[in-house]
Amino acid sequence: MNGTKQSTWRKDRIDIGILGLGVVGSGTVRLLQQNREEIERKVGLPIHIKRIAVRDLSKKRCVRIDTQLLTTNAYDVLDDPEIDIVCELIGGVEPAREFVLRALRNGKQVVTANKEMIAKEGQTLMEEAARQGLDFQFEGSVAGGIPIIQPMKNALAGNRINEVLGIINGTTNYILTRMTREQADFQDVLREAQAHGYAESDPTSDIEGYDAQYKIAILSSIAFTSRINVHDVYVEGITKITRADIAYAAELGYVIKLLGIGRRVGEDRVQVRVHPALIPAQHPLAAANDVYNAVLVKGESVGDVMFYGRGAGSGPTGSAVVGDIIDVARNLRYGSTGRVSCTCFQQKAMQPIEEVVTRHYLRMDVQDRPRVLAAIASVLGDFDISIESVMQKATHGDQAEIVWITHEAPNYNVARALETISRLPVVNHVYNWLRVEQ
Ligand code: NDP
Ligand code: HSE
Repeated sequence: MNGTKQSTWRKDRIDIGILGLGVVGSGTVRLLQQNREEIERKVGLPIHIKRIAVRDLSKKRCVRIDTQLLTTNAYDVLDDPEIDIVCELIGGVEPAREFVLRALRNGKQVVTANKEMIAKEGQTLMEEAARQGLDFQFEGSVAGGIPIIQPMKNALAGNRINEVLGIINGTTNYILTRMTREQADFQDVLREAQAHGYAESDPTSDIEGYDAQYKIAILSSIAFTSRINVHDVYVEGITKITRADIAYAAELGYVIKLLGIGRRVGEDRVQVRVHPALIPAQHPLAAANDVYNAVLVKGESVGDVMFYGRGAGSGPTGSAVVGDIIDVARNLRYGSTGRVSCTCFQQKAMQPIEEVVTRHYLRMDVQDRPRVLAAIASVLGDFDISIESVMQKATHGDQAEIVWITHEAPNYNVARALETISRLPVVNHVYNWLRVEQ
């Protein structure tokens, strides 16, 4: 079944230890149990769960497990000499980082789904894994069940990747989809999503864009072979999006999505950003709705490649984690761990958001009288911002709303123009400024 190549592995199984038996840990264990025989045949050896560390032994688990395997002491996993692969599925930076470092220093291969730890501490951990010749895999950390990290590191490795663009947060995609379909308000949809368990009780990381910030930092680091410091990634969440913005966008032929964008800028720089944006309704990413994620990778040789699927949840993320475990187990069997280490061998500078050039959507409340449109257009012109289209709607009394779509202009110019526009006596309020992506 596994060919004729001679295995160098001396044990009759691969022992794994798992840290965390929550949403992803349970999905991982369930899949290893359900497909045990098939996985054994694919690897050529059984994968045996030796120990699982949790915080609370009395907690009811949503997967059937021998309770003897459970421990509240992570070091029972990390320091067990028989354990070959440690799966870190706890989340957060500490103590996860310390545990992973300990596992690597103990010579164990590591699989994790922890985007925050990878985005913030990936370099230290990957350097340690490389020093030791160990595998350190993290497919589940970006876009849940969608294979994106392995494809970029392997199948697409021959390409120079110029752009990676994605909807990489399921919670916000769900909220924006509901707001679009039902003309609902952000707060109402968020409350309902929390009640149904689609959004976490503390949704800050999702709705403020931090979750997507970690993920696009990881994807861009791989795409551009340059370490992206997560703190340099510009981030804006979706809290300022109203149903009025969504309705205007639809009228203009766009949908609003929270995008993670990484793009090469010339030879030496990259731009990496997360923010809501208008994209044309026919854009391939516009069809990714509800909790689905989608990532578009633009390679010089391959062209556009689109990845689509479930970006979160127990089953999908468990699928990514188990895929990594199988890959590492095969490497262990043939003595080839540590083959694919960190690929950040370049140091590209980050383009500041002020210099980033996009089209823009501007929505403002103004007094509905002669020369108002001209006054605002004149300020835009003063800052070299050319207008693509304008839509005005009377609202109440002598007030009106104006929505502008501009041609491409640097973010700096728009910020300065809006400062001036908001001080014009005829402008009551600048409601929103969003970028428009093609
Ligand atoms: P959960 O909160 O559901 O599970 C965390 C688990 O870790 C729990 O079982 C908890 O134990 C255990 N744990 C926490 N601290 C310790 C500790 N010090 N020692 C031992 N065990 C500990 O998290 P998720 O499963 O949702 O997320 C896990 C990781 O996967 C995170 O990095 C997350 O970002 C990532 N991820 C999650 C996705 C998802 O859809 N949920 C999707 C993609 C990635 P106990 O159960 O006893 O409290
Ligand atoms: N909170 C994330 C999301 C899932 O909504 O996409 C974990 O990566």
